[in-house]
Amino acid sequence: MDVLKTVAELRDWNRANGGNRPRVLVPTMGALHDGHLSLCDIARKKAGMTGTIVTTIFVNPTQFGPNEDLDAYPRPLEADLEKCRSHGVDAVFAPSDNSEIYASDASISISETSLSNHLCGASRPTHFSGVCTVVAKLFNLTQPDAAVFGEKDFQQLAIIRRLVRDLNLPVEIIAGTTVRESDGLAMSSRNAYLSPQARAQAPIIRQALGHAAATIQQGKFDESIGLVRKTIESAPLAKIDYIEIVDAETLQPISNLESGRPARIAAAVFFGKTRLIDNIGVEF
Ligand code: PAJ
Repeated sequence: MDVLKTVAELRDWNRANGGNRPRVLVPTMGALHDGHLSLCDIARKKAGMTGTIVTTIFVNPTQFGPNEDLDAYPRPLEADLEKCRSHGVDAVFAPSDNSEIYASDASISISETSLSNHLCGASRPTHFSGVCTVVAKLFNLTQPDAAVFGEKDFQQLAIIRRLVRDLNLPVEIIAGTTVRESDGLAMSSRNAYLSPQARAQAPIIRQALGHAAATIQQGKFDESIGLVRKTIESAPLAKIDYIEIVDAETLQPISNLESGRPARIAAAVFFGKTRLIDNIGVEF
């Protein structure tokens, strides 16, 4: 596995591996867990024997708000590289410095003006602009044919699909399902911040979403949000940021399932300063 620390090294690697297609990208911020690695496994299936997998590890400063956890974000690079090696990744691009990605006087960024306006975008107003900008840069830098993103970050996935559509980027977006701990908690690099008490209570998010999806399937749409709220609030350390039922593609809140289109129940919950997100599909 090649480890590339600079844009110059990455460009050399691109040239040397130009014919090994498809090239499949797995963008991450590191602190890799089995959720990330499941995306590498999906990438391998897509790449086949002739193609290559490129994983990026970059804690992108522009997607963190002023009071968020940019400095505290875990950066266990050596352990991450070992995990990539054992999952058949061909090259890891892990820029050694932010200046590899952002000029100090950078003045161009990408903003998404519809899907970002609510859910996580409401409490993190600059977040998705940072995500769109860095993902477009990573696509330009790594020149992939396809890229894999997790459903765990459902809003991000929908916005990346929009980015690719609206900027005509020649990259196929592939979705990976959410990988969970045995008690149902969605794996996240941020779970490491949880106190033992908070960690014990956090699986309530998935339980509540599961109950709500079942309630909707029984035809009791109007009761479902109240039920999720009540269930999550029964955990003493949980503080709800949002719970919404949205159209799975437009992310607009819906008040019934009459359209017959796929829907998603999404939640963000604080445990202390740690904000956890999760979502579940509503099947018909
Ligand atoms: P990060 O949070 O490191 O996540 C990288 C990828 O892993 C994302 O596509 C995310 O949805 C996926 N992922 C995270 N937890 C998962 C889980 N439990 N199961 C399956 N997939 C999971 O998302 C980002 O980084 C950044 O915003 C990034 C896209 C890299 C841009 O900076």
